[in-house]
Amino acid sequence: MFDLTGKTAIITGATRGIGRAIAEQMALRGAQVVISSRKADACQAVADQINQSAGGKQLALALPCNIGLKDQLKTLVDETLRHFGKIDILVCNAAANVHHGPSATIGDEAFAKIIDTNLKSTHWLCHMVLPGMVQRRDGAIVVISSIAGLRGSKDIGTYGISKAGEIALVRNIAVEFGQYNIRANAIAPGLIKTDFARALWENPAYLNERINATPLRRIGEPLDIAGVALFLASKASAFMTGQVLVVDGGVTV
Ligand SMILES: NC(=O)c1ccc[n+]([C@@H]2O[C@H](COP(=O)([O-])OP(=O)(O)OC[C@H]3O[C@@H](n4cnc5c(N)ncnc54)[C@H](OP(=O)(O)O)[C@@H]3O)[C@@H](O)[C@H]2O)c1
Repeated sequence: MFDLTGKTAIITGATRGIGRAIAEQMALRGAQVVISSRKADACQAVADQINQSAGGKQLALALPCNIGLKDQLKTLVDETLRHFGKIDILVCNAAANVHHGPSATIGDEAFAKIIDTNLKSTHWLCHMVLPGMVQRRDGAIVVISSIAGLRGSKDIGTYGISKAGEIALVRNIAVEFGQYNIRANAIAPGLIKTDFARALWENPAYLNERINATPLRRIGEPLDIAGVALFLASKASAFMTGQVLVVDGGVTV
């Protein structure tokens, strides 16, 4: 049920953290994976490592792309289609947060940057990939949202708004495209040990407080999210769409 042999997946932000773990796990299950981030050399290094682990099989392709730029997203999709012929799985993972602090202090530019990078680009990319999925009557979209999209925050409110928007976006795609056998689901991770959240988990006081508030008594690792993404991209979740799965060690309960 978890086999992805013959499937092609685009994963944005796949050079580090959660995106990289997802790409590695999907390749381990036989998928052809497109490794994407803003840095070409980092994309190539991850793609090379995946191909080496696959015994020289060319499962991974490096395609740099800044998700905030529409023309680069279009090139990402066009080049993937040229190389692999189809896109079965889209993982919208890359995101930005450029403001920490009260929402009253965020400037228009930072507000627009967060909404554009996290939400508008996800909307764009989904709609660049969806027509091919409609044609083939098959597709799975996985959006990496956040528990920040499910509850309020004194520090990362605008980021939370963008992440809540992503959850609404998968619901709408589910409703509009379910008739074509296309599924869209979101994952809402809690605190995961990646560069993105380094300032939080490197702060011993914050980390301790967070662990004490978490039923599983630890923060997450990228692999904790990769397993759920694999589930949502595979046949194992064939009757699930429009949902958000919270993967946070229980901290929100
Ligand atoms: N870590 C957490 O605690 C946590 C919790 C909840 C949700 N999330 C979500 O999980 C997702 C992945 O985060 P992560 O923690 O794995 O972050 P990460 O370790 O910092 O990795 C981010 C990845 O995205 C790429 N990236 C950043 N900006 C980009 C852009 N504009 N265009 C294309 N690629 C870009 C980075 O590569 P380059 O810098 O080379 O472009 C890198 O590959 C994000 O959507 C985040 O909101 C994370």
